[in-house]
Amino acid sequence: MAVTINTLREFKQKGEAFAALTSYDATFSQVVSEAGVHVILIGDSLGMVLQGHDSTLPVTMDQMVYHVSCVAKGNRGSLIMADMPFMSYGTVESALENAAELMRAGAHMVKLEGTDWMKETITALTERAVPVCAHLGLTPQFVNKFGGYKVQGRDEKAAEMMIEHACELEAAGADAILLECVPAPLAARISQAVKAPVIGIGAGPDTDGQILVLHDMLGITTGRKPRFVKNFLAETDSVQEALQAYVKAVGERSFPAEEHTFKA
Ligand code: KIV
Repeated sequence: MAVTINTLREFKQKGEAFAALTSYDATFSQVVSEAGVHVILIGDSLGMVLQGHDSTLPVTMDQMVYHVSCVAKGNRGSLIMADMPFMSYGTVESALENAAELMRAGAHMVKLEGTDWMKETITALTERAVPVCAHLGLTPQFVNKFGGYKVQGRDEKAAEMMIEHACELEAAGADAILLECVPAPLAARISQAVKAPVIGIGAGPDTDGQILVLHDMLGITTGRKPRFVKNFLAETDSVQEALQAYVKAVGERSFPAEEHTFKA
């Protein structure tokens, strides 16, 4: 049965964890979907992973639409989430227009990076039938404001603010929250504070779902390997088995383990 936003809500209500992965093409999306991964993200990480840029900023709407349509063709029942690329939601009008393009290409939900300034945009999108995931914590489109890729929410003031933003964005209509690179205790507090499913990457074991970049979990990352990554292909020579092992480990909450987690 196809995964929907209701499926993710049910996971949260039952206290069960769901698995998400990035994917950018039809073949991988079919394999990922058939392995039981619940959510496929066409992340703007494709700017780094596929295109070789040093950030996600150069990714365009046309490129996102192309990759979403490739993934939609291969998908076998996973929920398809598409990133809105840098500056494609700078105004409410541009957000509506660009989200509509991603939905027409086959997305079931869009993901936006930012904080409380996105409230009006999220309300406008969700009122017009576009489900939204709000990405908080380390939001890579803000790399030049952050001065690097750094763990966010480490001090209590920043932690309180992130909790407040998550609650405000949920109240504005966000259907899901994604937390990237935040201390595990903060991610646990946010997951409890909101009813919406919370997906974590580098956010510890207590979020409602986990996500990784596909190339990272297959051990083919070039350059520095982030702390929160585990290579699931290290213990098998089958991509399919590696993907199934990831889904199982997330479901059992054996991944992420302590060595993949940031402390307060
Ligand atoms: O672009 C992406 O792949 C992402 C994940 C790292 C969550 O946003």
